[in-house]
Amino acid sequence: MNKHLLNKARVFEAMQEMQISEQERPAFHVTGTTGWINDPNGFSYYKNEYHLFYQYHPYSMQWGPMHWGHMKSSDLIKWERLPIAMAPDELYDRDGCFSGSALELKDGRQLLMYTGVEKKRTEAGEEKEYQTQCIAYGDGINYEKAQENPVIGKSELPEGASEMDFRDPKIWCENEKFYVVTVNRIENGAVLLHESEDLVHWKYCGILDSSQGELGSMWECPDFFPLDGKQILMVSPMEMKINGEDFHVGNGTVCSIGSYDKQTYQFKKESQHLIDYGIDFYAPQTMETPDKRRVMIAWMQAWSTSGFVPEGAKYFGQMTVPRELSVKNGRLYQNPVRELEKYRKEKVTYSNVEICKPTTLKGIEGRILDMTVELLDVNQFHDFTIRVASDGEYYTLIKYDSEKGILWVDRSNSGFLHDIVHARSITVKPMNNMLKLRILLDRFSMEIFINDGEKAASFCIYTPQNADGIIFDSDGEARINIEKYSLME
Ligand code: FRU
Repeated sequence: MNKHLLNKARVFEAMQEMQISEQERPAFHVTGTTGWINDPNGFSYYKNEYHLFYQYHPYSMQWGPMHWGHMKSSDLIKWERLPIAMAPDELYDRDGCFSGSALELKDGRQLLMYTGVEKKRTEAGEEKEYQTQCIAYGDGINYEKAQENPVIGKSELPEGASEMDFRDPKIWCENEKFYVVTVNRIENGAVLLHESEDLVHWKYCGILDSSQGELGSMWECPDFFPLDGKQILMVSPMEMKINGEDFHVGNGTVCSIGSYDKQTYQFKKESQHLIDYGIDFYAPQTMETPDKRRVMIAWMQAWSTSGFVPEGAKYFGQMTVPRELSVKNGRLYQNPVRELEKYRKEKVTYSNVEICKPTTLKGIEGRILDMTVELLDVNQFHDFTIRVASDGEYYTLIKYDSEKGILWVDRSNSGFLHDIVHARSITVKPMNNMLKLRILLDRFSMEIFINDGEKAASFCIYTPQNADGIIFDSDGEARINIEKYSLME
């Protein structure tokens, strides 16, 4: 294999990394070493460590021919940078190594499965990107693409399936057999299932679910796994239509909860909802930890706003905090991985504080923190607000409208001067007359976990770091409990 492109990219990123100080990055959210990142890839456990790869264009702040960037961690919070794992250096992937997944093999090797992209002329003479599924084997640092690549292509596709929109393999192993889900434009976005005994020869098993025009025009980044007695199918649809409070227009992420018959390959949906209600969340991928927790990570960015790179940025794109998943009341619950709690310090608590005018509280401030606010007796006011990352000029607003039962999150005043979507409204239901918000701030982002993880919402905020105030207010007599920790530093 010609390693020229890979070596060039490795040297380039190592040089750039030295120019970026720790303070210019989030404290506990993954960023690329330099340049642009998008989807998390190959989120997995290998030789007693967590591995995370990502869609990566090291050479600019824009998307370009995709490489796989690479990091590892012992606790999902502190990550160590590793050299780039793959570059687009073969004929079948020369226009990009697109998203995929990873697996520890019995023989001790780490398997990467990804989409190879190659621009070719169609019979009509048009240039199009053809997508196939490919594999590579490695030792946790260096990877060799298989000679048999591509391993899934036209001949393993059902009639009517697209060869141009066919990507994002998520692989798993069960009873000595390998299974992979991919997405295809057939039926306006579908999840296909293939199985194999040797990773090289794959048999098409069927379509697990499809949009049929109901949920976007094409799906991306599938994941399929059992959880709490149910089967979960996650996809990121493109060009979704608006549907009430739940589905906003454009790219989204959807979780379907149902059951799966492994003999007949039938997935039966019981319920379906958005995975994250914020602005910046796409292409989530999950893995199972050694203690059997299902953990999800996603690109904390939206495609629609990804052209707006903050001035002076030395890298672009970050991942969400890894989140533990569970199923309750027909919904996917998500909470930051418990490992984050190890990094909590300087606990500050308040109980039963009355809020009836703009209020700041001693010790409640900061930009790298984990804060839970319990809003008691939600019928004692109409609006309750929290302004975070605030300094009089800048702030990001979280407003609970108790009459409408809506949480309104707005980053219009966060310092981002582009005319793009800045706000979302989220339907919330108090639990026993109480609303619980866990807010994670980390330099350039805010993630909110509502009512013990029933809903989550992620937002990038590029507010100057000295805007670190937090202001509570209400138009009635709100009462709150607070538990706040600084994180890391
Ligand atoms: C999703 C996606 C994937 C593709 C990758 C390319 O964000 O479009 O479908 O594999 O990004 O970078």
